[in-house]
Parts: sequence; structure tokens; C-alpha cells
Amino acid sequence: MEKMQNIAATMIHCVVSFACCFLCLAAAFVQGSIVNERKPYIVYMGELPHHGARISAMDEHNNLLLKAVGDKNIARESKIYSYGKSINAFAARLLPDEAKRLSDEDGVVSVFENTRRKLLTTRSWDFLGMPTSLKKRNAVVETNIIVGVLDTGIWPESPSFNDTGYGPPPAKWKGKCDKGANFTGCNNKVIGARYYQLDSSLPIMDDPTPVDTDGHGTHTASIAAGIPVKGSSLYGIAKGTARGGVPSARIAMYKVCWSGGCSDMDLLAAFDDAIRDGVDLISLSIGGASREFFHDPIAIGAFHAMRKGILTSCAGGNDGPMIATIQNVAPWILTVAASSIDRQFTSTIKLGDGTITSGNGINTFSMKNKMYPFTDGAHATNLTGNIYGNSSACDYGTLSEDIVKGKIVYCLGDAGQDYTINTLGGAGTIMAVDAATDYYFLTLTPATTVVRSKNGGKLDRYINCTKNPQAVIYKSRTVRMTAPFVASFSSRGPQLTNRNILKPDVTAPGLNILAAYTKLKSITGEPTDRRYSAFNFMSGTSMACPHASAAAAYVKSFHPDWSPAAIKSALMTTATPMKIRDKYGELSSGSGQINPIRAINPGLIYDINQSSYISFLCKEGYNSTTIGLLIGGKRKYNCSSFKPARGFDGLNYPSMHIHLNSNESRISAVFYRTVTNVGDGNSEFKAKVTSPKELSITVIPKTLKFKTKYQKQSFKVLVKGSSTKNGTVILSATLEWSNEGHSVKSPIIVLKQQSFF
Ligand SMILES: *[C@@H]1O[C@H](CO)[C@@H](O)[C@H](O)[C@H]1NC(C)=O
Ligand SMILES: *[C@@H]1O[C@H](CO)[C@@H](O)[C@H](O)[C@H]1NC(C)=O
Ligand SMILES: *[C@@H]1O[C@H](CO)[C@@H](O)[C@H](O)[C@H]1NC(C)=O
Ligand SMILES: *[C@@H]1O[C@H](CO)[C@@H](O)[C@H](O)[C@H]1NC(C)=O
Ligand SMILES: *[C@@H]1O[C@H](CO)[C@@H](O)[C@H](O)[C@H]1NC(C)=O
Ligand SMILES: *[C@@H]1O[C@H](CO)[C@@H](O)[C@H](O)[C@H]1NC(C)=O
Ligand SMILES: *[C@@H]1O[C@H](CO)[C@@H](O)[C@H](O)[C@H]1NC(C)=O
Ligand SMILES: *[C@@H]1O[C@H](CO)[C@@H](O)[C@H](O)[C@H]1NC(C)=O
Ligand SMILES: *[C@@H]1O[C@H](CO)[C@@H](O)[C@H](O)[C@H]1NC(C)=O
Ligand SMILES: *[C@@H]1O[C@H](CO)[C@@H](O)[C@H](O)[C@H]1NC(C)=O
Repeated sequence: MEKMQNIAATMIHCVVSFACCFLCLAAAFVQGSIVNERKPYIVYMGELPHHGARISAMDEHNNLLLKAVGDKNIARESKIYSYGKSINAFAARLLPDEAKRLSDEDGVVSVFENTRRKLLTTRSWDFLGMPTSLKKRNAVVETNIIVGVLDTGIWPESPSFNDTGYGPPPAKWKGKCDKGANFTGCNNKVIGARYYQLDSSLPIMDDPTPVDTDGHGTHTASIAAGIPVKGSSLYGIAKGTARGGVPSARIAMYKVCWSGGCSDMDLLAAFDDAIRDGVDLISLSIGGASREFFHDPIAIGAFHAMRKGILTSCAGGNDGPMIATIQNVAPWILTVAASSIDRQFTSTIKLGDGTITSGNGINTFSMKNKMYPFTDGAHATNLTGNIYGNSSACDYGTLSEDIVKGKIVYCLGDAGQDYTINTLGGAGTIMAVDAATDYYFLTLTPATTVVRSKNGGKLDRYINCTKNPQAVIYKSRTVRMTAPFVASFSSRGPQLTNRNILKPDVTAPGLNILAAYTKLKSITGEPTDRRYSAFNFMSGTSMACPHASAAAAYVKSFHPDWSPAAIKSALMTTATPMKIRDKYGELSSGSGQINPIRAINPGLIYDINQSSYISFLCKEGYNSTTIGLLIGGKRKYNCSSFKPARGFDGLNYPSMHIHLNSNESRISAVFYRTVTNVGDGNSEFKAKVTSPKELSITVIPKTLKFKTKYQKQSFKVLVKGSSTKNGTVILSATLEWSNEGHSVKSPIIVLKQQSFF
């Protein structure tokens, strides 16, 4: 998480960007000023007019660009890329008025400035016990499933991607394997690897290669489809079998993220290729502020993927616990929040007087049971150092090297103090936080974290009241804890793009996950760190997303013909609702934690086809012209000649959400739903509603009778009530359709939102 960066890291960043600015200026000088006042934009034109239309699309792109720019040479120089395998679009450097002119053109859905997004992970860690009971597998089908991952590349030498025993790639595979520095090539597990570097304005030009020098892409890909690797651990911590959710499936990596971020232009190019290449699912652990759908390359890419039967599963963001921070919210995307698993890590601290206490965190170091001198930041102040810094918090430049050297130092504050202590030659770091955190950073010295008001006080007093204070920090060990709960950093709803679609959809493990890592980077990422490991811990909705992607692939291996919406519905309606632990907790977890095994037999599904999404877009105010372009072809789509989307939300969504303004107190909504029977032919489902007293919820009819498999039945849900209370009000109800073998659950969440902004 960005906000957690320590001072030292921030300083390194400044130095780097200064150097790059210098480079950019030099480049500007060479290229001439005309091109450089321009900014990169994406001109999005919907679906290709017909199959294999890339050549004619390129001509059209060039003509439109020339028309907007006016000058042939400038137009040629401004053009960056023509998409056109699955998506009709191009990227070019434009002036604002040229962009405006283009957006008024007939064939154009939207024109938006290229932005950069970030990976949705923190630098912190744990291990996931994927259910070992997954004996029920459709192995032959699973081995033909290709999971497309858009990320930082892949380190194919990882033991998680060993292809021993795998046959050649499935026949449908049309993808490629790019070459590049330090990349040993694809195999029968990692069947594709490409990289995208369209954004020449990225501050650091990394080597053009699909290899993962970050660790994030290797981590997410192995969570989705890594093979089981016995005895994997980080320096012995969390030892076990690391494995992906669909270990037989194949991986196609599309590298779109570089040290400077993940550019919209690259993301869209990767979607364009992945859809054409034949992936079955797309897993994307990248985020950015939510935007109107057709100004958002992830929503656009996922929309085209959906049209080709490919589900896109996305990380929901790491900006929690604040509400209204959820990202990647388009209704055709599976939006995933991060939750905990049942283990955490603790380190014993022993003091010179024999006192034993403990801290939390992942400490890979062993101090060999030897006592070290112990002090705190306040006692180690450098009187001629940075006087504006806070030495109790061990701020950079405030401590005396002479005092810190060889000692364990007690520092107030969040994280990053170990960097300073390491620089000054300290032996270890104990960080004291105001409130316990649920995720941890790897540290550069032996370290652990205590809560200031709890065992922190004990350490503080010991240091102040002892002549020669001493301490030792032990290597971390695993302890059990109650789970699951939603991680503090996981982004919360509500979303503001379509206010009445509940997001996130589900939660999956994303806290302190041990998975494959690259050996091209140290485990902390610090160049001075000499610890390299094939497995490492990371936390984030980035880690939750590939769990959900793998669960979706698992469902698909049993039901290859199900639509993306059907797979998503199966995961949502069989999820385990989360216990609400914090304020606004109802907005953090959607339908709950995924349960892949139950999801292969959901009983009923809420399916959504293309036309229904389009009717929904009409209801949301998209016009006929735009929608015609989205679908492509010659047919002009006219919203008014189509069956209008019905009901409060206008979509057959597996959850129900009413988002009122603060000035509205009357609740009145009708939701129309249609379910498809995917269980036995002859079955009967009964509705059960649980709701708070402020709501009156009626389901019509209360019983659904099916005679055949795949038969559809419709029902409606009337939600009435009122909430006159001031402030934010959340009312949480559930609809459950059940028969002997199934329970098909939908949350019904009413939110009356005080203006938060
Ligand atoms: C891959 O796994 C096989 C079988 O377990 C093993 O013999 C082989 O050495 C492994 N290859 C690599 C590169 O680790
Ligand atoms: C104290 O800070 C000053 C100024 O930054 C620095 O030159 C000096 O080396 C520091 N002294 C010690 C003992 O770390
Ligand atoms: C130093 O930082 C700690 C932890 O953030 C804080 O509690 C303390 O008040 C700060 N001291 C000063 C003098 O600012
Ligand atoms: C210990 O000493 C430091 C520095 O003098 C002071 O800031 C802190 O409040 C003291 N702690 C206790 C528990 O007395
Ligand atoms: C990648 O390879 C190049 C040369 O081929 C080398 O200079 C560089 O250090 C390598 N990078 C990493 C991260 O290993
Ligand atoms: C799509 O779903 C809607 C609503 O269930 C249905 O009316 C329509 O016929 C379906 N369209 C296609 C092409 O299957
Ligand atoms: C559709 O929207 C675009 C862009 O907002 C606008 O230029 C166009 O005139 C609209 N078309 C119709 C038929 O309303
Ligand atoms: C859409 O159809 C309606 C009614 O059939 C018609 O009045 C309207 O002009 C049409 N709009 C477009 C953009 O073709
Ligand atoms: C209620 O608030 C919304 C948003 O703040 C505003 O658009 C709307 O006009 C208000 N309605 C009434 C009846 O005041
Ligand atoms: C709600 O707030 C309004 C204006 O701030 C106030 O007039 C009203 O009495 C409050 N109602 C309740 C139930 O607290």
C-alpha cells in the first residue's frame, strides 16, 4: 500500500523521478515540441465491424486521426497503436481540442486520456491452506483451461510452474511467447507470455521482457494455477504445500505493469490479445479510481471478454477501510474483496530480566537466542541530526549511528523503521503501533510489531528502568486465529458508477498469502537485502482476485458451457456470508466468502446475457449510437426498440441493493429476477427471507417449481420500508431459495447514505 511507504523509500523515489524528468526533458528536446504538448489518449470505437477487420479498422483509425489533427506528418507521429483483434480502438497523442473533435465523430464511443494504475497489493504476508479436500476434479477438462493473467510478468523457473507431466497447450490456444532478457521461455504450464510497453512516458523504461522482476505476477499466477509444491515456505515460515486453485490449468501471462505502473494503453492491448488468444478467464489484480465504463479500459476489456464468454475477475482495491473506495465495479466483472485465513504470525520477545512477551509479524531472522543491547528511539537521538524529525518514531536522520549500532531499537510508528535501523547498523527493530494491524511487512532486520498500549508499555518501561536493557526477538511462528474477516485495507462499497449494483461481489483470501515469487528480486525488494526466495508473502485484494479466478475456472471445468454471468452467480449464491465486525461491514464483503466446492452445484443460477447487459446500459442512459458501436456490425441498435430493463436495478443480478440519498427516507423498490434450474430436473425451491424490522420484503411467488433442467422461472422481490434516522443507515436482509440439496442466497442491502464527501 502506497501510504505505508517509509521515508527512505520515498526518498529513493524522489531521486529516481528527478533523474527521469531530466531524461524526459532531453527526449522532448529531440522530438520537437509539437508532439510533446500532446497527451496520450485512447479512442474507443466499440466492437470490430466484422470478424478479421483489423486492416480496414486501421485505415479507419488513420483517417479519423488525420481528420482530427489536420496534418499528415503530425498524425503519423502522434499515432501510438491500433487495437483491433477483439476491440476496435486506437491510441494517439492528442491535444485536448483534437480529443474533443474525435469524441464527436460518428464511429467513436469514447475518448479518454491514458492514465496509470497500480497493483493492488501490499508488501505484507501469510499462507493460504487451499482446501485439501479438492479431490473432486474434472482433471481432463481442467487441463484445457487457460487462465489469462494481466500483471507484472512471470518467472517461469518457479517450482510452481514446473510442467512435468503436462501435454502440449490446448488446441484452441493461439497465443504467443515473447522473448526477453532473463526470460527462459514458456513451457507446457506457462503456455503464453507477452509484454506491452506502449506508454513511452513511463518514468523508468524497464527491460522489454515478459519476465517478472517484481514478484507480483508470479505470485498471482501461482495462486490461480500453480502446481502443488511440497515443503514450500519463506525461510521455514508457514511450511506446507503451496498450490493454485486449478493446478492442472494453464497460464497465459500478459505483462502490463512496469516499475512506473500499469498503463491503460497496455491494459487494453493485453485484453485485445487475450480474448483472441483463447483464454477461458481473465484475472486482473490492478486498480484505479472508478470511472464511467467506457472511459475505463478494464470495464471495456471485460465487456468484450464477456461477449466472447470469458469472465473477468478483478481485485476490488486496497483503499479500505474507508467506504466508497471499491474499484472495478462494472456488473460484468467479478469484483473481489480480501479476507483473512485462520493463521497469523507471532514472534517471541525475551528481555534481559527473563520477561517473555510477543509481537506480530513475519520475522525470517534467527538471532540464535543471543541477547542484544536494547534501547528506544528517544534514547538514541542524534542531537545534531534532523531536528524536525521525531526520534521516538525513529524518523530518518534523527538517530545516532553510534548509539543504534548493534542494538535492538524500540520505535513508535507504523512500518519502515527497520529500514532506518538497518542503515545505522542496528541489530533489530521493535515497532509499536497504536492499533494492531492485520497484515505485515517483511523487514530488513530482525523485527516484530507490538501494540503500544499493550505489551509496548512493558518494553518502554523496561528500557527506561533498567541499567543495561537487553532483548532478543525470535523467528516467527504460526498461530491460529478466528477467521474469516475482511482485511482492513480491502476497499468498501458503495460504488457510485451504478449506485444500485452491490459491490464488491465476494471475498477471497488476500491476507498474508504465501505463494510463488521471483528470484530476480530480494524478498523485500531492497537491493541491499540478500534474501531471495522462490516463495514469499503478499497481502492485498491482488491476492484475493486470483483465488476467485481459480474458483471460477474450477466451476468452468464442471460446466464448460456456462456463461460468465452464470459462473459468477454460482460463486455468489453459494458464498458464505461474512460476520459483520466493523462499522459499515455490510459494504465490505458482498455475498461473502467464496466456496468453490459448493459453487459447482449451486442449484439455481441468475444468468445474464449480452442483450440484458445492453438493456441495462440503455436504462443507465447510454444512447443508441454508442450501444450500436459496442455491439459492432452493421445493425443499428435502438434502445427504444428493445425490451426495456425492468425493475429497480434493471439487471438479473445475484444480489440486490438499494442506495438512497441522505434526503430520502421512503424505501420502495421492485426487483425482477429470473433463475435457471441447473440442479435435477424435477425440483421445488422455497423462498425464505430474513430481514430487519424496518423492512418489509415480499417474494412473489414464494415457491418455484421446475420440471426440467435449464428451465427458467421468474419472481419478483418487493422491498418496502422507511428509515427516518439521520446519518448513514444500513439495513441488511437475505433472500434464500432452498430445496433439499441447495441454498441459493442473495444479500439485500439497503443503504441510506449520509453525504460522505
Ligand atoms: C520438475 O519436476 C520434476 C518431477 O517432480 C523434477 O524431476 C524436475 O527436476 C523438476 N524440474 C525443475 C526444473 O525443477
Ligand atoms: C548526526 O547527524 C549529523 C547530521 O545529519 C551527521 O552528520 C552525523 O554523522 C550524525 N551522527 C551520528 C553519530 O550518527
Ligand atoms: C512521535 O511519534 C509518535 C508516534 O507517531 C507520537 O505518538 C509522538 O507524539 C510523536 N512525538 C512528537 C514529539 O511529535
Ligand atoms: C521512557 O522514556 C522516554 C524518553 O525519555 C519517554 O518518552 C517515555 O515516555 C518513557 N516511558 C515510560 C513508560 O516512562
Ligand atoms: C537481467 O539480465 C541482464 C543482462 O541480460 C542483467 O544485466 C540484469 O541484471 C538482469 N536483471 C535481473 C533483475 O536479474
Ligand atoms: C437474453 O435474456 C433475456 C432475459 O432473460 C431474454 O428475454 C432474451 O431472449 C435473451 N436473449 C438471447 C439472445 O438469448
Ligand atoms: C449519443 O451520445 C453522443 C455522445 O454523448 C452524442 O454525441 C450523440 O448525439 C448521441 N446520439 C443520440 C442519437 O442521442
Ligand atoms: C429509435 O426508435 C424510436 C421508435 O421506434 C424512434 O422514434 C427513434 O427515432 C429511433 N432512434 C434512433 C436513434 O434511431
Ligand atoms: C436529494 O439529494 C440528491 C443528491 O444530493 C439531489 O439530487 C435531489 O435533488 C434531492 N432530492 C430532494 C427531494 O431534495
Ligand atoms: C435530523 O437532522 C435534522 C437536521 O439536521 C433535524 O432537524 C432532525 O431533528 C434530525 N432528526 C432526528 C430523528 O434526529
